[in-house]
Amino acid sequence: MSDDLRQKAGDVRDNAYVPYSNFKVGAALRARSGAVYVGCNVENVAYPEGTCAEAGAIAAMVAAGETEFVEAYVIAGSPMPVTPCGGCRQKLAEFGKPDVKVTMATVSGVEEVMQLSELLPGAFGRGHMDI
Ligand code: THU
Repeated sequence: MSDDLRQKAGDVRDNAYVPYSNFKVGAALRARSGAVYVGCNVENVAYPEGTCAEAGAIAAMVAAGETEFVEAYVIAGSPMPVTPCGGCRQKLAEFGKPDVKVTMATVSGVEEVMQLSELLPGAFGRGHMDI
């Protein structure tokens, strides 16, 4: 169940630093070990240099020594669930199998679930490179 992820993503969303967009996002990843890692969006005055909530959660997971998540939850204060941006789709695909479920939610309780393979069909992957 994703109840704990919802709670943790919602809690970390409160800490989002968004003086430019005023749009708070929270993300929680359940790693393979069972541990949950969270992230929020962090903006700065050079607008494109801000980081998304998903990227923050991935960084926390990798910094803790884990490189795979089995479930993800993203929450925002939007009228409809926010889907990860293009860059975050690629970042998520790096650390999750194609069938991993990403729940996208609003603070009011609307949820939509998609698999990573649906979020990034035709993903560029290791198989495209001869390494
Ligand atoms: N944002 C995220 O953190 N995750 C998403 O999935 C979509 C967008 C952030 C980036 C920026 O700080 C703000 O939301 C507005 O785009």
